[in-house]
Amino acid sequence: MLNIGIIGAGRIGKVHAESITYHVKEAQVAAIADPYMNEATKEWAQSLGIPNVYTDYKDILMDSSIDAVLICSSTDTHADIAIEAIKANKHVFCEKPISQDLSKIKAVMDVLAGSKVKFQVGFNRRFDHNFEAVRNAVTDGTIGDVHIVKVTSRDPDAPPIEYVKVSGGMFLDMTIHDFDMVRYLTASDVIEVYANGTSLVNRAIKDAGDIDTAIITMKLANGALAVIDNSRKADYGYDQRAEVFGSKGQVAVTNDSGSTAVISTASGVTGEKPLYFFLERYMASFSKEVSLFVQAIINDTEVPVNINDGLQPVLIAKAAKKSLDENRPVLLKEIVM
Ligand SMILES: NC(=O)c1ccc[n+]([C@@H]2O[C@H](COP(=O)([O-])OP(=O)(O)OC[C@H]3O[C@@H](n4cnc5c(N)ncnc54)[C@H](O)[C@@H]3O)[C@@H](O)[C@H]2O)c1
Repeated sequence: MLNIGIIGAGRIGKVHAESITYHVKEAQVAAIADPYMNEATKEWAQSLGIPNVYTDYKDILMDSSIDAVLICSSTDTHADIAIEAIKANKHVFCEKPISQDLSKIKAVMDVLAGSKVKFQVGFNRRFDHNFEAVRNAVTDGTIGDVHIVKVTSRDPDAPPIEYVKVSGGMFLDMTIHDFDMVRYLTASDVIEVYANGTSLVNRAIKDAGDIDTAIITMKLANGALAVIDNSRKADYGYDQRAEVFGSKGQVAVTNDSGSTAVISTASGVTGEKPLYFFLERYMASFSKEVSLFVQAIINDTEVPVNINDGLQPVLIAKAAKKSLDENRPVLLKEIVM
């Protein structure tokens, strides 16, 4: 049985703790740490049977019975904790993004290079049943050579403005998943980015210097073109679709909803809205990514999302921001670590 320590008991830390407890039979959550540990979280941890609850993650790193850690704390803490965890010889699952600071990602890569620990990044959408089906149709050759990729990603509502101000901007906070999706669906790297962005959802987002609406076009190493469209607010719910068009056909997925029932009456034809947000839409993918991390440790195999997969979307996000600021296409190689 693999012993796992969870660092950060916020939204995503709790999702992972529950996934491991209920869905990953080869692992157990042996400890969880959060500096703002409160009574409600302690009770929740007790209800899951987590034996050790700490306010300092270093207690987890010092525990020699812990094999692996999941870093689920605020983004600005990921890289430093990851470096300490690798040095403590713990396998690391790190939530996205590894860091918004490229020099910090480089520092993690340097420490990782001299170690034998596994390091996986939390790009969970790769393990969504729909997107896996798209990727398979691409990699097994069904749709031929990839020519065009389209990703639509719209949130059901904008986050609080306090969050927007510290988020690092929409590209690093939200679009980062879509940049990863373009790489994943095409099995190719992005080499050039041209971003257009504006603020149409909330004036406060514009005042905070950010955008809430974007269209980003990309050139890929395999010659294909990709486009992402983003909005912070889709009135009908979480809109998560993708299409890949190739020389032999196309593959497309639409949204998941509570049911596929379509009601037809004299007043019209209606179906259910998409599942509300990422916790509803992607819950199964969170279990699967952690399960595969555990398998990679047990079987000593490659993790499915490695540190380069964590780095590339940050580079693309930086290129997109530069493109937006300078109103021109930006090559990825212009972004220096
Ligand atoms: N893969 C995804 O779809 C997904 C979804 C949500 C969040 N995330 C990522 O997960 C991370 C956490 O997001 P969240 O929504 O759970 O945020 P959150 O604010 O709900 O939780 C973060 C928690 O980390 C704790 N924390 C801060 N510093 C810490 C430290 N030094 N040690 C231990 N805990 C510490 C905070 O007290 C808080 O409880 C972010 O990096 C975010 O980008 C990923």
